[in-house]
Amino acid sequence: MILEKNRHVIVLLALVLGFAVCGLSCGVRDRKKTAGPVSQKDLILGFSQIGAESAWRMCNTRSVQEAATASGIQLLFANAEQKQENQIKAIRSFIAYQVDVIAFVPIVADGWDNVLLEAKEAGIPVLVTDRKITTADESLYAGFIGTDSIREGREAGLFLLKKFRSRLAARSGEPITVVELSGTEGSSAALGRAKGFREIMDGHPEFEIIESVSGDFLRSKGYEIMQNILSRNRKIDVVFSHNDGMTLGIIEAMEEKGIKPGKNIVIVTIDAEQAALNALREGKVNCVIECNPKTGPAIMDLAKKLAAGETIPRLLHVEEQVFTEGDDLSSVGPRGY
Ligand code: AHR
Repeated sequence: MILEKNRHVIVLLALVLGFAVCGLSCGVRDRKKTAGPVSQKDLILGFSQIGAESAWRMCNTRSVQEAATASGIQLLFANAEQKQENQIKAIRSFIAYQVDVIAFVPIVADGWDNVLLEAKEAGIPVLVTDRKITTADESLYAGFIGTDSIREGREAGLFLLKKFRSRLAARSGEPITVVELSGTEGSSAALGRAKGFREIMDGHPEFEIIESVSGDFLRSKGYEIMQNILSRNRKIDVVFSHNDGMTLGIIEAMEEKGIKPGKNIVIVTIDAEQAALNALREGKVNCVIECNPKTGPAIMDLAKKLAAGETIPRLLHVEEQVFTEGDDLSSVGPRGY
């Protein structure tokens, strides 16, 4: 684990230093000389990924790397190890190197304006992917491609309305208690999922969100937080988990306590990793909302368009499905993540 962590730090340092050294000794690419559309063969894409916190994220990285190779795009890849400051450094390195296009997954929504202004002033188009940013100046990036996290949260709420239909109709006055394990604080994925979920829940006061805790999208934290919540012996009807990684930890904590996940407590989860679909088949999870990580090919197409000086759509949401208990899953193939 430590070795793995250090390896990523070394790769990032090498990338940052490599760019700095190359800028001094080899001479950076002269963007002014090469201004204008870039031929596909020469296209260099700087990509700042947030880390490797989940199987979903690792699939997203593979998708980007494989698609770059398949399209003949030279990829400068930086892993930020879950730190915004590392992403900002990586983006600055891409600017110094004068890449043709920058793409990045913003770990949190806020705090990008300065570095994006630097990219804009350097004439480098920026594509935001997977997670969204908040900015007062929309001209700082060319477009977004990724998932619709507000819709994902709404789907979770809509499933619960169906699941608890008879209890809602009974109007017993007894609240349906919900524990929410949210993702990384300040990330658009966590903010959007929480927002969409509340949009539905707020219209149904029978549901009571009794705890909402950030598990940072990590399995280990999902486990620890659930252990802690269960130790307080509160009545819990539902757990809404913002990702499958945390859900696997939640299931483990419940089973250790003799609680049957999916039966004693309804579980709704997001991502649709293979492990979550297996849990759905086993009845340990009740609803799995897909978040599609395989955006690499679309990112490469958009990068080519941007490098050719074309405009791209401001907002592209990828297609996603919802899998629920009782669905016939026989036609669902291996997920690849
Ligand atoms: O931003 C997408 C989220 O990030 C995924 O749901 C989660 O698994 C990942 O870590």
